[in-house]
Amino acid sequence: MAPLSSWFAGAASLLAVAGAQHVVQDAQSACSRFGETFQHENVTVNFVHHVPAGTNLSLSQAGPLATCDQASQVAPVDLCRVALYVATSNRSGITMEAWLPSNWTGRFMSTGNGGLNGCIKYVDVAYGASFGFAAVGANNGHNGTRGTAFEGNPDVVEDFAWRSLYTETIVGKAVTKAYYGSNINHAYYLGCSTGGRQGFKMVQDFPELFNGVVVGAPALAFNNLTSWSGHFLPITGSNTSETWLPPSKWAIVHQDILKQCDGLDGAEDGILEDPTLCRYKPVTLQCPSNATNTSTCLTAPQVLTVQRIFSDYYGKNGALIYPRMQPGSELASANIEYSGNPFPYTEDWFRHAILNDPTWNASTLDSETAAYAASVNPFNIETWKGDLSAFKNRGGKIIHYHGLMDSIISSDNSPRYYDHVSNTMSLSPSELDTFYRFFRIGGMDHCSGGLGAWSFGQEAVEGAEQVQQTAQDNVLRRLIEWVEEGDAKAPTTVTGTKYVNDTVALGVDFARRHCKYPLRNVCRDEENYKDPEAWECVL
Ligand SMILES: *[C@@H]1O[C@H](CO)[C@@H](O)[C@H](O)[C@H]1NC(C)=O
Ligand SMILES: *[C@@H]1O[C@H](CO)[C@@H](O)[C@H](O)[C@H]1NC(C)=O
Ligand SMILES: *[C@@H]1O[C@H](CO)[C@@H](O)[C@H](O)[C@H]1NC(C)=O
Ligand SMILES: *[C@@H]1O[C@H](CO)[C@@H](O)[C@H](O)[C@H]1NC(C)=O
Ligand SMILES: *[C@@H]1O[C@H](CO)[C@@H](O)[C@H](O)[C@H]1NC(C)=O
Ligand SMILES: *[C@@H]1O[C@H](CO)[C@@H](O)[C@H](O)[C@H]1NC(C)=O
Ligand SMILES: *[C@@H]1O[C@H](CO)[C@@H](O)[C@H](O)[C@H]1NC(C)=O
Ligand SMILES: *[C@@H]1O[C@H](CO)[C@@H](O)[C@H](O)[C@H]1NC(C)=O
Ligand SMILES: *[C@@H]1O[C@H](CO)[C@@H](O)[C@H](O)[C@H]1NC(C)=O
Ligand SMILES: *[C@@H]1O[C@H](CO)[C@@H](O)[C@H](O)[C@H]1NC(C)=O
Ligand SMILES: *[C@@H]1O[C@H](CO)[C@@H](O)[C@H](O)[C@H]1NC(C)=O
Repeated sequence: MAPLSSWFAGAASLLAVAGAQHVVQDAQSACSRFGETFQHENVTVNFVHHVPAGTNLSLSQAGPLATCDQASQVAPVDLCRVALYVATSNRSGITMEAWLPSNWTGRFMSTGNGGLNGCIKYVDVAYGASFGFAAVGANNGHNGTRGTAFEGNPDVVEDFAWRSLYTETIVGKAVTKAYYGSNINHAYYLGCSTGGRQGFKMVQDFPELFNGVVVGAPALAFNNLTSWSGHFLPITGSNTSETWLPPSKWAIVHQDILKQCDGLDGAEDGILEDPTLCRYKPVTLQCPSNATNTSTCLTAPQVLTVQRIFSDYYGKNGALIYPRMQPGSELASANIEYSGNPFPYTEDWFRHAILNDPTWNASTLDSETAAYAASVNPFNIETWKGDLSAFKNRGGKIIHYHGLMDSIISSDNSPRYYDHVSNTMSLSPSELDTFYRFFRIGGMDHCSGGLGAWSFGQEAVEGAEQVQQTAQDNVLRRLIEWVEEGDAKAPTTVTGTKYVNDTVALGVDFARRHCKYPLRNVCRDEENYKDPEAWECVL
């Protein structure tokens, strides 16, 4: 297989969607001149480097990401890499980068983060640059993958809740205009998970920032989500408790879920195209009372655990805290939320942002704790505003997606938000279509991966741009067309591609069109379930 640097560099011309091309002459000296002259309030320039296409950048020594997981990133195109520190208060700030392609389309793109992390998402920044965007990313106000930096510093929490992305975008736009000496034509956003929440936060509260956003698996209702992520531990108990299920038993549950629900969409292919229809009942797995060997059946306490995990989470006074985990993702969730260990983000968020108690015991989380977090709601991180009319009125477009096999954030929460917007704005789905479209991605795990046709341009996949060249196959390209060419280009479905063993070089396994909510996918021709034409979007 060709090395990453060559496929990625070669990708640039394929990816670029027609736009106002702006070619920087003598980019190397333009870039170094920029480093000597750029000034902006609250901004310290860390470095400015010209980076030729194909350069494999080492991130581990660069500092900001020494405590993050990514060691290197290939620059997809010739670009000017601008690294900044921006103070957001007298005790906090963001570390950010702008990747400014020498061949610029006039478009700008901000990227988000994940989990509780303070890690520039370089893969997304590079993906944006490969499309010819001036692409920016920030560390969300702290460094590293955990949330300990929140302790005793609400300004760091505020950066995380909204201010990092806001600042990154304001400063990023200023950098872009200054470097090219030209205005930005259109501004976009791409993010998933925490990044999905960040994008919705801007849509809700800063509707002027972006013309279009692609927001995936959003961590909306953030405090409640964090409580829900943590409520599995009290349900399962630790891994020595009789209420806990080892992964081998989750595998049995998974098979039973497929038995009860896989056929509901017309195809028994291991993928639940609409898990909201699956009202799973584990009782038939319960061990008979005379059983002597319980390794292949569930004990009564384990049946109860499974029932509770697949039930909506209610708090005091019967208020819904968060919808249930959707059935289907249990093989992966078994090692995460159901492991019998604290969910790290819940532990960090409660210890350092909500309770300021670094020794808080995650096993004690209950609906009182959840209600408290919801009432504290630091800097309105909940991100649940249902009135998006300011964004709509400015002509903004939202493409929202969620994998229906998400093992971390239940996909049941995304339709709940969509319906909340629909109710708040008194707009029917066909009226929301003018600016907000939500796609449910059957068989996709959290933001990517899974059994389904999960690659649709929501993130860079090595080599995929050679295969997924149309807007129908690539949601970022689709968003650009919708924003810049109007409603005739709005998506009615998005086509996902499943590669053999998730490896592009091994070829396409199958493709499937994913439906726009509230439509769902049904198979009309089960024998040919790998054929996109076998499927239909129905109400
Ligand atoms: C980039 O460099 C790192 C080591 O710093 C290496 O592990 C990685 O494979 C390289 N990537 C490419 C595409 O060459
Ligand atoms: C810039 O991109 C456009 C559109 O893809 C392409 O036609 C042109 O050759 C590129 N110019 C340079 C200098 O790479
Ligand atoms: C994050 O790391 C960068 C680079 O090492 C450093 O400049 C910055 O001060 C760090 N930020 C925080 C909040 O510690
Ligand atoms: C600079 O930071 C201060 C807070 O420390 C803020 O009040 C001010 O608005 C910032 N200036 C700009 C241009 O962002
Ligand atoms: C930081 O700013 C706050 C106001 O936002 C002020 O109350 C505080 O005294 C300042 N601290 C320092 C060390 O300047
Ligand atoms: C239980 O969890 C502990 C960590 O708390 C781990 O070391 C141990 O291997 C786990 N045991 C099983 C059976 O999963
Ligand atoms: C348990 O009882 C059922 C019928 O009540 C019987 O068929 C089965 O063989 C018994 N199993 C054991 C392990 O005794
Ligand atoms: C229980 O059944 C499993 C699966 O059939 C088997 O592997 C295991 O050895 C049995 N355990 C005992 C104690 O008989
Ligand atoms: C945490 O709480 C659980 C449940 O109350 C308890 O069993 C456990 O011992 C506690 N752990 C620690 C480290 O205190
Ligand atoms: C969050 O949970 C509280 C109960 O703890 C509930 O009153 C509130 O409506 C929930 N918010 C959302 C957005 O679900
Ligand atoms: C795909 O992965 C499976 C399991 O790892 C392996 O058995 C199979 O040979 C792989 N297929 C190809 C075409 O590489």
